[in-house]
Order: sequence, then C-alpha cells, then structure tokens
Amino acid sequence: MLGVCYYPEHWPEDWWAQDARRMREAGISYVRIGEFAWSRYEPRRGEFDWGWLDRAIDVLGAAGLKVVLGTPTCTPPKWVVDDNPDMIPYDEQGRPRGFGSRRHYTFSSENYWRESRRIVEILCQRYGAHPHVVGWQTDNEYGCHDTILSWGLTDLKAFRRWLRTRYQSPNELNAAWGNAFWSMDVQDFEQVSLPNLAVTETNPAAKLDFWRFHSEQVATYNRMQCEIIRAHSPGRWITHNMMGFFNDFDHWAVGDDIDFASWDSYPVGFTERFPFSEDDHVRWAETGHPDIAPFFNDLYRCIGRGRYWVMELQPGPVNWAAWNPVPKPGMIRIFTWEALAHGADVVSYFRWRQAVSGQEQMHAGLNLPGLHEWSQGGREALQVGQELQKLGPLPPSARAPVAIVYDYEASWITRIQPQGKDFDFPELMFRWYETVRRLGLDVDFVRPGADLRGYKLVLVPTMPHVSDAAERAFSQADGLVLYGPRTGSKTRHHAIPPNLPPGPLARLLKARVLEVSSMRPGLSCAVDGEVEGAAIRWRESLDVNDAHVLARFSDGKSALVAAGRHHYLACWPDADLLASVIKLMTTKAGLPTVELPEGIRIRRRSNLLFVFNYGDHPWQLPFSGSIVVGSPTIGPQDFTVVKQG
Ligand code: GAL
Repeated sequence: MLGVCYYPEHWPEDWWAQDARRMREAGISYVRIGEFAWSRYEPRRGEFDWGWLDRAIDVLGAAGLKVVLGTPTCTPPKWVVDDNPDMIPYDEQGRPRGFGSRRHYTFSSENYWRESRRIVEILCQRYGAHPHVVGWQTDNEYGCHDTILSWGLTDLKAFRRWLRTRYQSPNELNAAWGNAFWSMDVQDFEQVSLPNLAVTETNPAAKLDFWRFHSEQVATYNRMQCEIIRAHSPGRWITHNMMGFFNDFDHWAVGDDIDFASWDSYPVGFTERFPFSEDDHVRWAETGHPDIAPFFNDLYRCIGRGRYWVMELQPGPVNWAAWNPVPKPGMIRIFTWEALAHGADVVSYFRWRQAVSGQEQMHAGLNLPGLHEWSQGGREALQVGQELQKLGPLPPSARAPVAIVYDYEASWITRIQPQGKDFDFPELMFRWYETVRRLGLDVDFVRPGADLRGYKLVLVPTMPHVSDAAERAFSQADGLVLYGPRTGSKTRHHAIPPNLPPGPLARLLKARVLEVSSMRPGLSCAVDGEVEGAAIRWRESLDVNDAHVLARFSDGKSALVAAGRHHYLACWPDADLLASVIKLMTTKAGLPTVELPEGIRIRRRSNLLFVFNYGDHPWQLPFSGSIVVGSPTIGPQDFTVVKQG
C-alpha cells in the first residue's frame, strides 16, 4: 500500500539498484517515474534516448517494484515551445507565461495537442506492454500554478469556436449573456473578446462561460491522453494526480475518464496557506489542521468512485508555502494512516530523496539531500511499512451517512461575482466539513445531480446554479437536506432567476430571497431559536411562504427555515451557529454523534475505527472494541485502531 515518487534522471545510474533495494526494504511496492523527463528522452525532435529509461524501469522492476509511468506533457522541453509559440499561456493581465519552470502550455493550443498526442503515443508504444509498468499518470497536476485559464489569442480563437457550437447565433449569445446591458451586443462571433483587460468588470455570464470552456478543454485533453494509453497499454490503469484547494476545473468530469483519482497531499503546506486565524495558524503549524488532508481524502475517494491514491505525500517540510516548518515527529506516519483510514489504496511519498539542485532543493524527501540516508520522514515511512505488514489487508470503506455536494461551478460563480470580499468557497466547504467531523461522522462528497438516496443528511454549503438534474436529485433525496446561502441564486447564464433565489428550489423550500447583504469583518447579526450563534460575512432576507421558521436574526427576520425535509440557512454562520445548525440537523436525522476535542478525529474503514490525535495532550479512548494498533490512551501525534463489531 506504499509508493514513492522517484527521479532516476537526477541520480547517478549506479545508485538506482541500491535505491530500489531500499525502497523494497521500506515496504514500498509502487514507484512513480518519468513525468518530468521529456527533455531527457527526446533532447531534439525525433532524436530519442530511451536507454536510461529502459534501464531504470528494468532495475526498479527487477527489485520487485511496480512502475507507474507519467506522461511528460507538463514539462515540454524548450524545442517544443520554440516550434509552437502559440502554446504559451497568458495571464489575466495579458502577459505571456514563458519557458523556465513548468506547465507552460495552454489547453487551447491545437499545436500543443498535436505535440502531446505524438509524445504520449511514442511513450505508450514503447512501454505500454512492459511487464513492470502497471499504471499511468496523465500529465501532472492539471492547473498547478494557476494554469487552467489562459488569456491569449490562441484562447480567444478557441473560445469563439466553442461559443459558436454552443450558441449557434450571435443573437442567442446576446440573449444568454444579457448583452443588452452596457451595449455589449455582438453581431458576429468574431466580435467576442476575452473577458479581461476591459475598463471595469466584464460580463459575469461571459466569464462563467470562459471558465466552463477551459474546464471542458482540460477534460477533453485528458481524455485524449487516456484514449492513447488505453489503445497501447492493455490491462493497465490510468490516474491523474489532482491537488488540494484547487477548483479551477471540474474534477468530476476528469474523473469520468480515469480508472481512479489520485491527489497530492501536503497537509502542513495547505494549513499554512488556508485562511485560518493567526492563532489557528500557530496552533496547527507543525501538525497540519486535523481536517485538511481528510477533506481531500474524502473528496478524491468519491471522485474516484470509491477508489483513490495519494500520489504524493509530504515527507517533511515543503518549499512552497510562506513558512515551511518540519512536521512534528510522528506526523508523516499520521498523514499516511489518515489516508489509509479514508480508503486510499496506496499512499506514495513525494519524493524519494531531497534534490540538491533546482527549484525544489528545499523540499524534503524520504532520504537526505543527495544521500542514501533516511530523513525523519523516511524513518516514519519505514515504521508504517512494518505496521502495515502486521495489520494485514484493510477492509473496504463503507458509504458515509453524511453527503456534502461539491460543485466546482459554485467556486467559479462566487469568485466571478463575490459580492462580499470574504465569501470564500473553499473556506465555506471546509468549515461545514470540519463541523460534521467534529461530531465523529464520516463524510462522502457527491457530484451535483448525483443520486442522494441513502444519505441520512445531505449538506449543500452553497450551489448558486442548480441544474435540472441537481434539482431532481434534491427532490428525490430521502434524508434531510440543508442548503446554505446563495444556493439557487443564479441561472445557468449567471442571471437572477425569474422567481428570485432559490430559483428552482423555491418549490421545495417554500421561501424566496428578497435581498442579500454582505458584511465586512466586525459586523455580525445574532441568530436565536432552535439554533444559536451569529451570522457573519453574509445574510439574506427571506420571504417565507409555507416554510417553518426554526431560527430568526435579531431583527426578527428568518435565518433558518424548513419545509418538510428541506432546510435553508440564510447566512454565513459563525463557528457557534454552524455547530448548532449541524448538531440540530444530525439530531433530526437520527445520527449518533460524539463531541470530539479539537485535536481528535475519527474515521471508519468497515469495522475498523481509526482514532487520531493531532493535539498536544493524551486522550483516553471512550470507544468499545478490541484495540489492534496503539493503546487506549492515545498520545500526542499518535493514533489507535479499534476493531468494532
Ligand atoms: C506537487 C507537484 C510535485 C512537486 C510537489 C512539491 O504539487 O506535483 O511535482 O512540485 O508539489 O510539493
């Protein structure tokens, strides 16, 4: 169940066999290679040097490792860029993002598609049937370094083509985008401009379509690579390594074409980047916040339809956050076991050995820079290997009782027109998730429009555009549903629905939103009734039809309403209100909960209950069952596994 990311091209060839042997000793069975190696196997067009890669795969395979080969399209060599100047992406300010790091291509470039097809095909023809190659990773982290949206001429041309197929006539486009506003009508698709670099804000409907267009391009680009791999590499699986806190393309759509999802987990780096309070930043600086990695373990398990890998796991300090502390002793082991507890098939560390040169020389590895010597993270990986051997195969994960609907379009819409500076989609999703986990409940994430039957509680923190399919799924849900602010507030074309928000959900919720107010830091409004706390950042004025009012703002307006199983929360809740609302919903749904201390989290894998301690104090286990790992008193940065039932 363990893997590692390895770069044979960075180390002398006579180190490879020793590296492979030590990987096996550590209990590692998978090794991912090759995703950045294009310039080393095709230094000039058509001139190939496969010898080193052949030998690397042979050496790794001979040691008993299974090889995961990456397609190299995220780092096109300089000659590819020189041959295809139109592949260079542009930022929103219209500046080219040139050669010298990675991801220097736009998904809109037909020329880059041609180059990608060519190299993926050549690579797959050579290694597709290789006995040591068991699976593929397409590209590397689509969108890393903000590279989904690109704003160049190549993008404009492709966007116009996309609009032409979608809207057929300029008049349809004008109607959909509401172009009568500010005389923005076009008479020809050639008059459409990129939605950037105007005097002030550009049309939100145009921006939303621009985002959809790019997101679709990512999915079709990935599909193109998958088709080539499948044609040449029978019996091998395909994945793509996705990221944390990254919403610029629809990951559900990319998930459709791969065999399972994988993701790159850097809990301490993500914690540093997340908008926590200063106190919380300090509190979790060296352990990572206890819900940060679990959030994405759950999301990618669900995008992978029940199967996922952690393709890259932080083995020590990273190099890319504002501060990069060494994780506390024990945390690399905890991060690994968290992922396994959440259902990961394999956890693979990034990277085998710390690099001595290049951009990432300050990023830890399982081995010290340039040495055959374990780092602290490496020693913890060894420990996990031994523990895994003792525990034997893990049972599968069951469906969770709580579902959270995760809508990528919601992230685009709330960024295109935030209306309140701190209406932050990732934070909203994270806060709702965290609050459920503090009650000891497992969570699944669900795609908008997917079947919700069987979940006792469905949470929709926000979802401005509710499609017909999503509305159908909500109306068929057989558990309780709680919708958060702005849900149903926009049509497909980013307009206010004719019946006012929540648009198509008005039928289920029996209320409508008359007015919204965003509140700067320092403003708040108390909420009282069946739940208690305060609204911060955002509140709405509801016109309640037949819905039941469960709680009111201090001015008497409705804050939380219910119509049958459907509930609407008309604000961004502060921590107290959110805890109280979620508690009310779980009680109404009949879900047994436990109030966990801030540093303790649990997660089930069938009858195995994993209990993790991210805190600084020992915790006495209150759960029954037989202990299979650890002890009844869980020390700081330690964990215990209990077998129940
Ligand atoms: C990931 C990326 C890796 C490496 C790593 C450093 O985002 O896939 O190639 O850059 O971050 O933490």
